[in-house]
Amino acid sequence: MLAASSVMPISAFNFGFSKKLKIALVGTGIRGTSFWGKRLIDEYSDILEFVGLSDINIGRLQYAKKYIGVDCKTFVNFDEMLDTTKPDLVIVTTLDATHHEFIIKGLKFGCDVLTEKPLTTDEHKAQEILNAERESGKNLIVGFNYRWSPYATKIKQLLTEGTIGQVTSVDFHWYLNTYHGASYFRRWHGEMNKSGSLWVHKSTHHFDLLNWWLDSDPSEVFAYGDLEHYGHNGPFRGNNCRNCEHKNKCEFHFDITKNERLMDLYVANEKHDGYIRDNCLFREDIDIYDKMSAQIKYANNAIVNYSLTTYSPFEGWRIAFNGTKGRIEASLDIPYNENINMSQAEMHAKEMEQNALGNAKQESIIVHKIWNDFETVSVTMEKTGHGGGDKRLQEKIFITPNTDDPFERAAGIRDGVMSVLIGIGARRSIESGNPIKISNLTDLKPMAKRIKV
Ligand SMILES: NC(=O)c1ccc[n+]([C@@H]2O[C@H](COP(=O)([O-])OP(=O)(O)OC[C@H]3O[C@@H](n4cnc5c(N)ncnc54)[C@H](O)[C@@H]3O)[C@@H](O)[C@H]2O)c1
Repeated sequence: MLAASSVMPISAFNFGFSKKLKIALVGTGIRGTSFWGKRLIDEYSDILEFVGLSDINIGRLQYAKKYIGVDCKTFVNFDEMLDTTKPDLVIVTTLDATHHEFIIKGLKFGCDVLTEKPLTTDEHKAQEILNAERESGKNLIVGFNYRWSPYATKIKQLLTEGTIGQVTSVDFHWYLNTYHGASYFRRWHGEMNKSGSLWVHKSTHHFDLLNWWLDSDPSEVFAYGDLEHYGHNGPFRGNNCRNCEHKNKCEFHFDITKNERLMDLYVANEKHDGYIRDNCLFREDIDIYDKMSAQIKYANNAIVNYSLTTYSPFEGWRIAFNGTKGRIEASLDIPYNENINMSQAEMHAKEMEQNALGNAKQESIIVHKIWNDFETVSVTMEKTGHGGGDKRLQEKIFITPNTDDPFERAAGIRDGVMSVLIGIGARRSIESGNPIKISNLTDLKPMAKRIKV
């Protein structure tokens, strides 16, 4: 049903309306049950059906079936799901370090595979995925939703049109607040062997945007990072927030009992696998960085200064592109620049549930050409999941796969690999104290102009 393509993975989708696309999903957590589960059934059940759900947690599997609203078989064993259901498409929404296992098995079984970001967490797994995809002739799609927001797309358009000439350097800074930033330290994301650190889990989004905006591959990365706020740095610690003896004095206390969905999805099922959703963010086994800074050199000679902060008072980001003919400045959600009348806690809760954050609003991009006054370009943004990117990504995959993609937003395996290699390289750089060449990590050679393979 889904024809292989080495050029445009997503646009190669060709849904026959006489037969529904058979989907098997592995990883029935919050992303799997909501965005790739219930939302697909709510929006596209006329063209697709779930034939199987898989997870290591039997309780969460049963909850997922009910929440998504499907009546398919459930499997603790992924291989058995493939054998029994013979899906057209496998969707992978498990914890990051396990993605490669299901991607490779799905491709080898003859399925197309759609994986959540990050593609994977280290260079060896990335190479294994590259090998499997080449041998399979099937499609691998990486769910890079950020590219699809109108704001990110407008930046791409301005750069592609040469508005500021050739981009020579970039400053890119992302600020996670003490709700969203902290949430990563409560769960598996806080452990290097599960998430590959936020260099990979979170920054893969940002590095993918950079690669796409600059239209070039990264060639070298040098980085610093440290853990100074969460983990062993905390003044006290407990087993989970619910029963913690320090709850009255902990600024990060998170009362999961007030959230029915999280109670049903996680707390009700922690007896099966010990996954504690409101775990202590000061626990000793947290070994990822909470402040990160990198310099990235691109194959087209552009250089980037990037940073990620995980305990900012607000959530937002800033970027500036310096080009041979001028400068573009863009930012979103910086509270000092606009009148945001929603608390950071409320904003985080809505984003996590993938709810609309309010009405559409205008956002600005500054274009400042050398020797000229600056101009303000206005972009209409809907405040839905990931800046409106979430729903546009699904629309492209399932409804309009064959329409033009002038801004090349559809992301495939090379995009997935290149974005994680920057974060993996940053980790290796911190470990070794040296700059890391991207070409030494897998057999992909960085190109001055990105190629779509
Ligand atoms: N694109 C985005 O903006 C976005 C947003 C949220 C999450 N994600 C991605 O989605 C994925 C899932 O994230 P989440 O927040 O739903 O996490 P989660 O912890 O809620 O869910 C992960 C699920 O995977 C299951 N699992 C773990 N190991 C498994 C294994 N070996 N086999 C089968 N199942 C296994 C767990 O039991 C759990 O149900 C992650 O890779 C994450 O990066 C992407």
